[in-house]
Amino acid sequence: MDKLVIEGGQPLSGSIRIHGAKNAALPILAATLLTEGKIQLRNVPRLLDIEVMLEILNALGCIAVQRDDLVTVDTSGADSSHVPEQLMKLMRSSIFLMGPLLARFGEVCIYQPGGCAIGERKIDLHLKGLSALGAVIEEQDNQLWCRASRLKGCDIHLDFPSVGATENIMMAAATAEGTTVITNAAREPEIQDLQRFLNELGASIIGAGTDTITIRGVNKLTPCEYEIIPDRIVAGTVMIAAAATRGTIRLTHANPVHLTSLIHVLRRAGVQIGICDDIITVSSSGRPKAVDRIVTSPYPSFPTDLQSQIMVLLSLAEGMTLMKETVFEGRFKHVDELVRMGADISVDLNAAFIRGVPRLYGATVEATDLRAGAALVIAGLAAQGKTVVEQIHHIDRGYDRIELMFQRLGGKMHRQTPAMKLDLA
Ligand code: EPZ
Repeated sequence: MDKLVIEGGQPLSGSIRIHGAKNAALPILAATLLTEGKIQLRNVPRLLDIEVMLEILNALGCIAVQRDDLVTVDTSGADSSHVPEQLMKLMRSSIFLMGPLLARFGEVCIYQPGGCAIGERKIDLHLKGLSALGAVIEEQDNQLWCRASRLKGCDIHLDFPSVGATENIMMAAATAEGTTVITNAAREPEIQDLQRFLNELGASIIGAGTDTITIRGVNKLTPCEYEIIPDRIVAGTVMIAAAATRGTIRLTHANPVHLTSLIHVLRRAGVQIGICDDIITVSSSGRPKAVDRIVTSPYPSFPTDLQSQIMVLLSLAEGMTLMKETVFEGRFKHVDELVRMGADISVDLNAAFIRGVPRLYGATVEATDLRAGAALVIAGLAAQGKTVVEQIHHIDRGYDRIELMFQRLGGKMHRQTPAMKLDLA
């Protein structure tokens, strides 16, 4: 398995273009099934999860191809509503296919997506929403069969503002009979991007970005071209890395509005942040200051997807920070690895007590999930000495060649593949 070898202690500097958002591209790729014809998507990142989604679309009869950051999907040949199990297991986000396949074929068969390192990842809110629209759902072994002769709009209240459930219901309701109103909807920028895309196809949706989304069902959707928004979590990861290495960097093609909560925390920690249109500059010359507490919760609050990364910065701060993770019940798997690098962090259920230390030390550490892996890369860049991050396939799911991104910013890091090791032998 590939590893990242990092020589820490080098302040990051330079400019980096932020790539398209994984969590916007995945539901939008699934939504292409709502129409027949050729759709062009620009600014699609080159990631393992995107590759898997394209494989699933091809397995369903589409022709989906990515060249650089341009994806074309021809859905006219789609002829199956059965998501292959081996692909479903590779990526939980295959759950996004339920709504579009149900709307297009009147049935869908998926496999229970299962949990992952960050928590149980239930799908009850997805199923409740789809059955409210008229779907009949049966569980056979580990398969979920979902059928609906006709989807009918209705009012749906989400017990929790689930991102995925909001997106699945939006996609299923886009061509349903009548109007659907989702209350307590998720408000993330990726939901807003999905609404824009669906409306480009000819849907009639308003309210994304608020907690109430209204979808007036239309008869037909037609192909379009579309550009995906920038990835706010990749941008946030780079911003935190600049602060942790006391560097000065410039991000382009970013959207500062999507990063308001992170920018607020970084400024409280003493980091200078400049904003001009889609350019964000980050500069830090000294040790960060602790912020008394951070609580992750749904957008626009502090994002759970930046929790592990900001913990690295705060583990180097002067003072103590209380971190509470309220979205996923298992998202502190990176703490043990940071402690092995010299961090002083203790965990009690969903709370982490971070006592800042002057420095971290390089070590061999293991990525347990996507964002925990990104946090360990930041720790390696900030630490004294050499860090080896293992199991980096987790990181490749959400970052387009993370080593190139940080090399461009002066980070001393390279990817070690097993073949390379043989050469070295
Ligand atoms: C999306 O996951 C993102 N993934 C996650 O990013 C992100 O962390 C999460 O939203 C929260 O912002 C994609 O968009 C592909 P949820 P999703 O449904 O939709 C519970 C990353 O690192 N829940 O908002 O799965 C669930 O257990 C990934 O890029 C139910 O109980 O998140 C969790 O505790 C990680 N029942 C909470 O809601 C349901 O039916 C948030 O889940 C659905 C969710």
